[in-house]
Amino acid sequence: MADLSAFVFVFVFVCLSTSSYFQALHAMAHQWPAGGSTRFYDFKVQTMRVTKLCNIKEIVTVNRMFPGPVVYAQEDDRVIVNVTNETPYNVTIHWHGVRQKLSCWFDGPSYITQCPIQAGQSFAYEFTMVKQKGTFFWHAHVSWLRATVYGAIVVYPKTGVPYPFKHPYEEHIVILGEYWLRDVLQLEQQVLASGGPAPPADAFTINGHPGPNYNCSRNDVYKIDVVPGKTYLLRLINAGLNMENFFAIANHKLTVVEADAEYTKPFTTDRVMLGPGQTMNVLVTADQPIGKYSMAMGPYMSAQNISFQKTSAIAYFQYLGALPNSVSLPAKLPNFNDNLAVKTVMDGLRSLNPVNVPTKIDTNLFVTVGLNVNKCRSKTPQNNCRGMNNGTFAASMNNISFVKPTISILEAYYKKIGGQFTVDFPGAPLQFYDFSNGAPNNAPNNTQASNGTRTKVLKFGSRVQLIFQDTSTVTTENHPIHLHGYSFYVVGYGTGNFNPQTASFNLIDPPYMNTIGVPVGGWAAIRFVADNPGVWFMHCHLDIHQSWGLGAVLIVENGKGEPETLPHPPTDLPRC
Ligand code: C2O
Repeated sequence: MADLSAFVFVFVFVCLSTSSYFQALHAMAHQWPAGGSTRFYDFKVQTMRVTKLCNIKEIVTVNRMFPGPVVYAQEDDRVIVNVTNETPYNVTIHWHGVRQKLSCWFDGPSYITQCPIQAGQSFAYEFTMVKQKGTFFWHAHVSWLRATVYGAIVVYPKTGVPYPFKHPYEEHIVILGEYWLRDVLQLEQQVLASGGPAPPADAFTINGHPGPNYNCSRNDVYKIDVVPGKTYLLRLINAGLNMENFFAIANHKLTVVEADAEYTKPFTTDRVMLGPGQTMNVLVTADQPIGKYSMAMGPYMSAQNISFQKTSAIAYFQYLGALPNSVSLPAKLPNFNDNLAVKTVMDGLRSLNPVNVPTKIDTNLFVTVGLNVNKCRSKTPQNNCRGMNNGTFAASMNNISFVKPTISILEAYYKKIGGQFTVDFPGAPLQFYDFSNGAPNNAPNNTQASNGTRTKVLKFGSRVQLIFQDTSTVTTENHPIHLHGYSFYVVGYGTGNFNPQTASFNLIDPPYMNTIGVPVGGWAAIRFVADNPGVWFMHCHLDIHQSWGLGAVLIVENGKGEPETLPHPPTDLPRC
């Protein structure tokens, strides 16, 4: 029982000052309800004026909170979130990492599983955390609204089930984000119309705060007060739009114990890297001299010739007893292009629990991921063709840029409405070439992608292996590829072109993830069993790449009987 009070402590901690928390801790020491209960949340999507970086701006939020409210639950709980759209914009919410077993209708990606919730409308998302616990997050899944519409999902183990590590003294949520001074929806339109790259964010943020390295942000900084000698669990989430990031704490080690809401063997490191869409739980012990230490978020940029934000966001890890005005010790982040640091983190991720990796494979897919340059088709190229070589930037899987349809693919599939999508997404690229070394604009490495709303249909229960191969068209880059509806085993990865003869796979303890950072100029291999019927988006979690078409859709057919069949759509499913 003593252990449980630490959980409660966290809830309380968020809203109270340090002087009153001990009192509150005793007053409110009750445990959360047992698993299998239903959690109700009310999300009102609203605009809010915020002042950041000396600028006042209207942002879209949930319940006028930034980051938005935390959804708490326990393993196997049912979660019902009623989302009301009080903004003039189209909205959907995606529950990132939630596998949505038999509940594809509530997954949230716009035009994939639902039409957006229009201004003034509402939609109730209902799903069960079937055999899932850990750190997840929710975010808008329409346009670039995700820039400010995001929040954490924390799912505790069932009552009485301990963590597989010493219970931390406290838990804290640490959400990495990117902040723009410009209206993100206008920015998105302008960037896409220009054909050129996306401008860097004006600031990185930790729980919405840029910290002292930025203009006017000396006091706009997140802080964790720590008791010397105690161990803290940080739930790291990268909710950034277009950047991958390193995270480190000055003079402190991080012990990774969970990645993408699945336990990992404890792995101690000086820093971690998270791409957008990735979550990681780390333990940190306050074992250093009393002081004020920086927690820093900085860029990981593996691509060439792309401008990006270089100033790190800073938060404080501050010991009780440290002088409030003491200078903070700086955290050491790797260089922005330190690919080895990224590989070291990946190498450290190993499943803690016994794995169930498919060893026989029914469906082998090989999918290239990368950027493209399309020929300029505009009469005003100086305005609309600002990509490389006066073309327009695009991105693709197997050289097909994904185009969203006008109603949701799931609805079209379910109701057999034709003309919205095709089922011919190729299981391999039409042309094989030296993917990782091919120079741009050099046949046969045609830089032109074709457009389509192509899906790949999988039989229920098929055992799938999927190799992602980064291409060097335009530039090689680490792409955080996310698959909806599933976690997958990351059985292998490497640099260069995938070669089945030389690739070595880990079938013993591979991590079970939902977003894989495909190494820059390299490949990654994942495996999963297609046992969740529905229409599942698979895409790069860098929004600019997603907008350019770096995605595809997997349709998993129903199996036999009710437990293997997607139920009917909810009656309040939004209409287009
Ligand atoms: Cu977190 Cu389709 O995304």
